[in-house]
Amino acid sequence: MGTSLKYQPQPAISQIPSADWNDLKPDLEAARAETLADVDLLTSGESIPDQKQPLDSGFIMLPANLLEEQKAKGAESLLGQMKETAGKLQPQIDRFVVLGIGGSYMGMRALFEALCHPYHNDLPRSSRGNIPRLYFAGNNMDNDETAALLEILQADAQDSHWGMTVISKSGGTLETAVAFRLFREALENCYGADSKAATEWVVPITGETGKLRDLSNASGYPAIFPIPDGVGGRFSVFTAVGLFPAAVMGIDIDALLQGAADMTEQFRTAPIGENPVLDYTGVCHLLEKNKGLSARILSTWGSRLEAFGLWYDQLLAESIGKEEKGALPLTVVNTRDLHSRGQQHQEGVRDKLITNVIVEEPGTKPVPVPQVNADRDQDQLNRLNGKALPNLLDAAIKGTNKAYAEVDRPTADLLFPKLDAYTLGQALQMLMLATVVEGRLIGINPYGQPGVEAYKQNMGEILYGK
Ligand code: PA5
Repeated sequence: MGTSLKYQPQPAISQIPSADWNDLKPDLEAARAETLADVDLLTSGESIPDQKQPLDSGFIMLPANLLEEQKAKGAESLLGQMKETAGKLQPQIDRFVVLGIGGSYMGMRALFEALCHPYHNDLPRSSRGNIPRLYFAGNNMDNDETAALLEILQADAQDSHWGMTVISKSGGTLETAVAFRLFREALENCYGADSKAATEWVVPITGETGKLRDLSNASGYPAIFPIPDGVGGRFSVFTAVGLFPAAVMGIDIDALLQGAADMTEQFRTAPIGENPVLDYTGVCHLLEKNKGLSARILSTWGSRLEAFGLWYDQLLAESIGKEEKGALPLTVVNTRDLHSRGQQHQEGVRDKLITNVIVEEPGTKPVPVPQVNADRDQDQLNRLNGKALPNLLDAAIKGTNKAYAEVDRPTADLLFPKLDAYTLGQALQMLMLATVVEGRLIGINPYGQPGVEAYKQNMGEILYGK
């Protein structure tokens, strides 16, 4: 077990009267019990009652189950197979494209930005550990961006081999399907429609049935990884959706899964007060219900967790934003956004709970502020003698929190001892569990996204007619 993620709700919790907190405890316990009972319901083989549909509780025990299966079956296990396919792909390609949208790419983007070199794609291959560069597509319909990526891939396709994974649980999402057709055609143009590259460098990840499954079977791709029933898109980061591309990018997927499994265990067993999932849910819920804090700011300090925040924005918004309920999630990156949103957070409408996401130890050696001769100290930064960027960031965090505290703007901290696969695994699982617990607490089914169908249907009618 690695060092652990910590949720420290002071000073936000000081704004919650202890009677409110005590009153909430039985409801929180009930929401935990329901969340865990749903795991059994899904695997029981019994029919799922209507009011529970859809039920996507499969993500909860998945990390532990995958690790267990790997222990028992080794290379034959799903993890073993993903690692083998990733390992074969790595030396053969220099550019790897992830096609997918929403829950089918945001988790991988969070993993990539947090765990890979911040300038990974700019490094020479040898400094990248022979790991390909990574690109995301199929998450938009932007003509210029798509055309530009296709151009780059095709321009030096013989020197820089490329391949892709296409990810869609339903297998019918238009953005991803169109992108797959475009990138497939480009790949076949580069290497020949009958080439090995045209099949071996394409790895579909999809549900057991659907258009992408049919297309993949018909195309004879040698490796196709499943997205299990009972795991919803935005809860799928610990299926092949996140794990396979992460393995291609050299991320330690066992550590990720171990972090997630340990978080589930803590959620299952730890009392309120020592349980990051329940504590976080309780604080967010009470401050929204009793104080009207309906905007949840995830305030990341340093830039590597921005995509993690965007992943969470999607998770919370699609899961709880239903029946005219649900807080508004918003990720900010500080200190950058102190210069764009800080004003509003300090003095705007009192509707915000700020959760700081802080990495306590940088992954690289602290960068000191250089000292210069006195005659060149017009910027007066010699005063920072002996200080490095982490000291400045720390001062910014403390200074900002103090400023918020002085005007009763509640903040809480989510502390990563360091940014590694284990801790990120914990954090992703913590927030998925918290989202489900919150849904159960307020009587909203956190799974499914019925509202998204309206735009898809209208778009289909416009494109294909009725
Ligand atoms: O959380 C969800 O289910 C959605 O955000 C989906 O991930 C997104 O709509 C993409 O769906 P699909 O994987 O079926 O292409």
